[in-house]
Amino acid sequence: MTGRGRPLAGRAERARQSPTPPRCHPQDSFAARAPPPRRCAYATPPTAPNNTRLLSGDRTHVNENTRHKTLTAATARVWDAFVIVVGMLKGGTGKTTSAWFIALYYAVVLGLPTLLLDADATSQSAYDWFKVAKAEGFEIPANLVIERYPFDDIAEYIRDKRAEFGAIVVDAGGGSAKLFHEAVTEANRLIVPVAPTKIERRKLIATFDEAERAAARNTRDVTAHVVLVKADDRTSLPRTARGKLLEPVEGEGIGPDRDEPFPLAETVIHSWVHYMEAFGEIPTELSEYGSLMKELNAA
Ligand SMILES: Nc1ncnc2c1ncn2[C@@H]1O[C@H](COP(=O)(O)OP(=O)(O)O)[C@@H](O)[C@H]1O
Ligand SMILES: [Mg+2]
Repeated sequence: MTGRGRPLAGRAERARQSPTPPRCHPQDSFAARAPPPRRCAYATPPTAPNNTRLLSGDRTHVNENTRHKTLTAATARVWDAFVIVVGMLKGGTGKTTSAWFIALYYAVVLGLPTLLLDADATSQSAYDWFKVAKAEGFEIPANLVIERYPFDDIAEYIRDKRAEFGAIVVDAGGGSAKLFHEAVTEANRLIVPVAPTKIERRKLIATFDEAERAAARNTRDVTAHVVLVKADDRTSLPRTARGKLLEPVEGEGIGPDRDEPFPLAETVIHSWVHYMEAFGEIPTELSEYGSLMKELNAA
């Protein structure tokens, strides 16, 4: 299962019941359209992923009345956003940091019109990050829009925004299982950041249970990945965590017998000052998150 992601519940059953035509990955859509300007030194052109899980949804016309007029004018196309939910039912695991780096990857590296939704009802730190960056004079990529909670209905909001963006990254927060659930009902991909500690691993099971329930209501394919973050290779923790996630003892895994491995990404996000100090800045060095997204997009 390593690096492959786990299709969440209901997907296979739905596929049998109502086969859907092959769908485009946003990178494909993007490649079929005009190439974006290379914005930063680290920008790399998108490559057609191997063995990409095919994704899509209904294509609708871009709403001319959108309040993101500049963005819409710049793209003036119809999109069907690839929706990435960054979630884990626990605070402080690295969701907001991951959501920002992933959003920057889609906006700057892939050049897609990207929406970062701060759906954390408690702390709204993804939106604060944006406010601080703006106040401190950082240039926010023109194709990156950041919006914050409250949303009356997050699933409906995501649905409404799909046609305007190539990618939507949702920071689902850690405090509300309901919000997390609703966001996953619209997700194409779920990314669960987890630090290599026992207390965080324990929360993974509840997170996956909730995600499975939500996936059963998702009309698309949704694939889940666990990503080890804050890994300090000077300790034995990352190695131990990896073993426990990939070869769980009964009761500590997923699946009907709770003994199946978690879908752990190969790419590890290390515990670096770079990430600790990134809040309120627009990092130009996405490093490990770039590798992570390439790995997941190729899976
Ligand atoms: N890879 C990392 N290495 C070191 N510190 C990190 C890393 N990712 C996040 N952090 C730090 O961990 C804390 C919690 O991160 P945050 O992204 O706010 O988590 P969450 O949104 O899940 O509450 C913050 O202080 C952040 O700077
Ligand atoms: Mg947060």
